[in-house]
Amino acid sequence: MASDNSAIMDAMLALHGAMERQGPGDDALTRRLLDRVPTLPPEPRIADLGCGTGASAMVLAEALNTPVDCVDAAHAFIAILEERAKARGLDHLIRGHVGDMAKYRHDDGPLDLLWSEGAAYNLTFAGALSAWRPVLRTGGYAVISELTWFCEHRPQKVEAF
Ligand SMILES: C[S@@+](CC[C@H](N)C(=O)[O-])C[C@H]1O[C@@H](n2cnc3c(N)ncnc32)[C@H](O)[C@@H]1O
Repeated sequence: MASDNSAIMDAMLALHGAMERQGPGDDALTRRLLDRVPTLPPEPRIADLGCGTGASAMVLAEALNTPVDCVDAAHAFIAILEERAKARGLDHLIRGHVGDMAKYRHDDGPLDLLWSEGAAYNLTFAGALSAWRPVLRTGGYAVISELTWFCEHRPQKVEAF
């Protein structure tokens, strides 16, 4: 199965690696969502799970001027994230981790802010919520995006699903 997996990873990199984001949304949306998060404690523990090449993580790091753990299963995406962070002068704040976001834990304790754009579906939404609940401190915040409609009129079969 390892070769199947690496073929999928190669295809993902070829399709998405050069794009600024690997999912829907843009930096303005990330900032808008962040603006709705209540004040975080000093030196907050933050992670972006399924971060891809890190577009949202960089918005968080820049806006909050605080370190962000960036977790993705794709080694190549984390390599690109680290290059981009360096180019933006954010490499002291962006901490890339190659790994399974279902098993991630912050080294210093539960998170104050868990962020995940367009990635939770990989664990199923319910699976993501149960995997991530123990990662978040009581009273912490989670910002998680899921399925996105791009049109007003959807095929009935898709809508029903
Ligand atoms: C649609 S992309 C979204 C990436 C990024 N959040 C964005 O919006 O640009 C989903 C990401 O989840 C990652 N991923 C999928 N399953 C994962 C897992 N179990 N652990 C960590 N990352 C995973 C993929 O490698 C991919 O980068």
